Amino acid sequence: MSRILVLYYSSWGHVEQMAWAQAEGAAQVAGTAVTVKRVPELVPPEVAKQAGYRLEQKAAVASPLELGDYDGILFGTPTRFGNMAAQMRNFLDQTGPLWAKNALLGKVGSVFTCTQSQHGGQETTITSFHSTLLHHGMVIVGMPYTAPGITTMREVTGGTPYGASSITGAGEEMRMPSELELGMCRFQGGHVARITSELVAGRAR
Ligand SMILES: Cc1cc2nc3c(=O)[nH]c(=O)nc-3n(C[C@H](O)[C@H](O)[C@H](O)COP(=O)(O)O)c2cc1C
Repeated sequence: MSRILVLYYSSWGHVEQMAWAQAEGAAQVAGTAVTVKRVPELVPPEVAKQAGYRLEQKAAVASPLELGDYDGILFGTPTRFGNMAAQMRNFLDQTGPLWAKNALLGKVGSVFTCTQSQHGGQETTITSFHSTLLHHGMVIVGMPYTAPGITTMREVTGGTPYGASSITGAGEEMRMPSELELGMCRFQGGHVARITSELVAGRAR
């Protein structure tokens, strides 16, 4: 049995939807137990309410030190100025005690994101996130070009070899993750769960 955590932050529900799709994909892999959790909100409640944040989300809030209980972790964060959201950064900055005892060494880490604009920094968010995972000694897994739809020109879509992604658009064009984007999330979840279970089985031999 291998244990996968999908850990995310989401202000308006886009990354939240992507996280559940990742979990769906991971759960398809035999012998995989999947947990979905989110990191704590840091924005003052009145500011969050005014900005229309989705404050009620069904995923439980994670504690930083529980990351060591999983074999693979899929991290989801919206892009903020080309980087991960502060809520996720703050959570990761509390994982020093795990780093000190190599608790995440050799575990699988993978990242997905969401931006408002097509070229608003999906790759920079994901690849800069990878630095933290590498400091923890994690094995980074992306989303290979075998993901369905990753090269399509039929519609405007997220999807990068670094990890699944979605584009929200703005104003009248704003949307939730498309079926194509959610499909790539399911694909990444399955891909990560398969690699994780192979690593876990290999170590047990
Ligand atoms: C402070 C701030 C910074 C943002 N920076 C970017 C950015 O650099 N590029 C971009 O395309 N979108 C940016 N966005 C839009 C968010 O990425 C988008 O709202 C988010 O992906 C939606 O996901 P969520 O509903 O899960 O929070 C930013 C939003 C905020 C509030």
